[in-house]
Amino acid sequence: ISLLPYNTFGIDVKADYFVEYSSIEELQKVLTSEIVTNQPFLHIGGGSNLLFLKDYSGVILHSAIKSIEKIREDDNHVYVEVGSGVIWDDLVAYCVSHGWGGVENLSLIPGEVGAAAVQNIGAYGVEIQDVISEVYAVAKETATVRAFTAEECRYGYRSSVFKGDLKGKYIITSVLLRLDKKPHFKLNYQHLEEEVLKNGDVNLQTIRQTIIAVRESKLPDTKVLGNAGSFFMNPVISKEYFIALQEKYPNIPHYTVSETEEKVPAGWLIDQCGWKGKKIGRAGVHDKQALVLVNTGGATGAEIVYLAQEIQQSVKEKYGIELTPEVNYI
Ligand code: EPU
Repeated sequence: ISLLPYNTFGIDVKADYFVEYSSIEELQKVLTSEIVTNQPFLHIGGGSNLLFLKDYSGVILHSAIKSIEKIREDDNHVYVEVGSGVIWDDLVAYCVSHGWGGVENLSLIPGEVGAAAVQNIGAYGVEIQDVISEVYAVAKETATVRAFTAEECRYGYRSSVFKGDLKGKYIITSVLLRLDKKPHFKLNYQHLEEEVLKNGDVNLQTIRQTIIAVRESKLPDTKVLGNAGSFFMNPVISKEYFIALQEKYPNIPHYTVSETEEKVPAGWLIDQCGWKGKKIGRAGVHDKQALVLVNTGGATGAEIVYLAQEIQQSVKEKYGIELTPEVNYI
C-alpha cells in the first residue's frame, strides 16, 4: 500500500499492510492476531510528524476511533472523552462552538488526538497537557486497557512517557479532556492579544480565527507543499550560555524556561544562518518560517534529512547549539 496519503511530507513510500480499527475491542483483536505479532508494526496518527526514509516492511496501524462524548461536568468544567482518531482541529472547532475553553490556542494544528497526546502538541502559550485529565490506552503486549493520570503521562515540551520510558508499549485509544465552562483566555504569546482585538472582542471564536490566520500566513498548506510543521524542537540552553550568546547577538529572541534555562527559537537560528527560502535538490526551507522544511515536489526522505543535517551543522558552527528534530524519522 502506498503511504503517500498518510504522511503530510508527501513522501512516496510503501508499507506491506495497513490496518485500521474503530473500537478498543477491534484493536485488542488486531494486537493478538498474527498480522501484528509476527512482524514489526508502526502506529500512525495523521502522519503530520513523520518522515519516511524508506519503504516500511511491516504493518501500519491507524485508529478510526472517532467518538466525542461529554462524560460529566461540575460548576467550572466539562469532561469530554475524545477518541484517538478524531482530527485534532475538528475537536477544537467542536469545543469552540460549544463555548468550552482550553484548546482554542491550539487551532489548526494538524494531526489526530492520539498523537497529540503522545507528543504534547503546543502553540501560542498552550499545550495539550494543560487540558488533559486522563489518557486511556491499550498495552501492546497484553492487549489490556490502562488509564493514565495526567501526572503519569509525565508531560514536558513536546514529550511524554509515551515517547520516553513507555515508547512503543501502549496505544492511546482516547483522552479525557477537562475544559473550562468560563474560559480563561491565554493571550500573552508575542502580539496575540493585539491581533485578536483587531478581529473584535476577545472570545473563543475570535481567538480561533486569529490563530488560524496567523498559522495560515506562516505555515505552508501540506496539500500544496509537503511538510511536517516545525522540523526541529526549539533548543533549551543554560542561562549562562544564553547570556554569552546575547552579548554577541543582542537581538536573539528567547523564552525563559526556568531560573537556569532559556529556550531559543530554532527558526531564528536557521534564518540567521541564511537558510530561509533555500533549496538543496527537492528539499527546501520554507520562505516564511525557517523552522519548516518542505518537499518542493517528489523529494525522498533522504533528501530532506540531508538538508536537515546541513542546517544542523551550520547552526552548530555559528551558535554552538545542537538542533534536535521534532519530526520522527522512520
Ligand atoms: N523567527 C525568525 N525567522 C523565522 C522563523 C521564526 O526570525 O524564519 C523568529 C520569530 O521572529 C520569533 C521567533 O523566531 O521571534 C519564534 O517564531 P514563531 O512565533 O513562529 O514560533 P516558533 O518558536 O518558530 C513554535 C512551535 C510551533 C508553534 C509556534 C507558535 C516549536 C518547535 N514550534 O514555533 O509549533 O506553532 O511556536 O506557538 O516549538 C510545531 O510544533 O510543528 C509547530 C508549528
